[in-house]
Amino acid sequence: MININVSTSNIFGFKTDAFVIGVFEKTEKFQGLVGELDDVFKNKISSLYFENEIRGRIGEVTIIHNFVGFSSERLVVVGLGKREDFDDDIVRKVSALALNKLNSINLKQISFSLLGSDLIGIFNSAKSISEGAIMGLYRFDKYKSKSNIVSIQDINLLGFGIGDEKLVKDAVRQGQIISDAVNLSRDLTNEPSNKMTPSILADIATDIALEGGFESEVYEEEDMINFGMGALLGVASGSIQKPKFIVLKYFGLDRELTPLCFIGKGITFDSGGISIKPALNMGDMKADMAGGASVIAAIQAIAKLELKINLVVIVPATENMPGGSAQKPGDVVTAMDGTNIEIDNTDAEGRLVLADAISYARSIGVSKILDVATLTGAIRIALGTNYAGLFGNDDEFTENILNSGQVVAEKIWKLPVDHDYDNQYKSQVADFKNTGGRDAGSITGAQFIGEFAGDIPWAHLDIAAMSRINSDKFYFRKGATGFSVRTLIQLARSFEIPK
Ligand code: BES
Ligand code: MN
Ligand code: ZN
Repeated sequence: MININVSTSNIFGFKTDAFVIGVFEKTEKFQGLVGELDDVFKNKISSLYFENEIRGRIGEVTIIHNFVGFSSERLVVVGLGKREDFDDDIVRKVSALALNKLNSINLKQISFSLLGSDLIGIFNSAKSISEGAIMGLYRFDKYKSKSNIVSIQDINLLGFGIGDEKLVKDAVRQGQIISDAVNLSRDLTNEPSNKMTPSILADIATDIALEGGFESEVYEEEDMINFGMGALLGVASGSIQKPKFIVLKYFGLDRELTPLCFIGKGITFDSGGISIKPALNMGDMKADMAGGASVIAAIQAIAKLELKINLVVIVPATENMPGGSAQKPGDVVTAMDGTNIEIDNTDAEGRLVLADAISYARSIGVSKILDVATLTGAIRIALGTNYAGLFGNDDEFTENILNSGQVVAEKIWKLPVDHDYDNQYKSQVADFKNTGGRDAGSITGAQFIGEFAGDIPWAHLDIAAMSRINSDKFYFRKGATGFSVRTLIQLARSFEIPK
């Protein structure tokens, strides 16, 4: 656990292992805090800068030692890049970079000036440092007998006036809630599938709701039979693990007001089923519940932030396995809304469980539905690993989601839905088949799901290429990213009714 403290103490008297400041590229004269420090440090910073040992580039972390007249052991200068490109996300990134470097030399107490606060404001700077720190120092090492625990214990935010203390404290609190939620999503997603079965996920979700003071309900297989959720049950039929249909409800407003709905794909392991996947990297499919993890994490944060919205979160949770009773290519299943679906490929299971989740959401009454899913390998072919793909039937809603992503620096790009693709998933024997061929695979997957939304505003976020990362990158650590959690929280914010 990392503590983030806020102090109005004088920076020259506050003793820590390192004090972090930022410099921009192409600075002609250091002003403000950096200028003051440069004077105290007898022009050390400016001489390193003008000799090009420090350039202010993003990724630069320069440690300067032993200064008489300065209380901290080290002064750390991080590059903030070009002034004109500066934003909140650069603060997250460079805070994470600096802290990982300082962690690698086993430091414990770190203090930060409010990086770039003259450009983005005190609040955004403090919030972004907190988020960069908590996301950046995340580790998933619970199964390592000899874990190298994070050395950093305390982070202190310094260098602002007494009048701003409350603002900075609030920023830290919000940053903490949001990045704790990101890390919760990462934890759930990084767990191996034998430790994160549908039952375990349902139990954890129930505990989170209890702790957070919101409602939860877990429907069992018998309930799913009663609801007529043939599409979800078909996917679940190949596994010994029982499916769980997780429903969480948060009321920040009068209960009578129709809630917003987030649905997350909760495939705790996707072997492909009878249409089995190749062995290479199949273990990564323990993360096929990243969407489910993210919506659970998001509602936790939304409840802690006490946002003025009503929200229902739904996670259809099951394994996709090739057991003896598994569904087979060519089978026909009947979804909750009566739609008959031909199973062309058992590996296209996400759209099946989401179909029934959407019908359930409609049956309880929701205003808008956003589903988040590791749905298609094809989204990586379309957008690579920089953008998640967005689809939807309502331009105002998708615009809102794109904006929310932009505010929190989660990159999202909208792709088309169009009836001209419909024939790709028409079936010879049933209403639809669950595949649409190689062309536009992410679009036909999305449209299949959209068929069940009918006329309510619906959007689908395909995070298959964003939910995991193969190497550390700024505040991301190899493994689950928690991508979409921050967008979901921001989206909920955008629907708040002003207090
Ligand atoms: N869970 C996968 C998609 C996926 C692929 C997620 C890679 C993360 C990384 C999904 O269930 C799947 O298998 N999709 C198929 C669909 C196809 C059979 C129509 C795919 O993308 O190949
Ligand atoms: Mn699959
Ligand atoms: Zn899947």
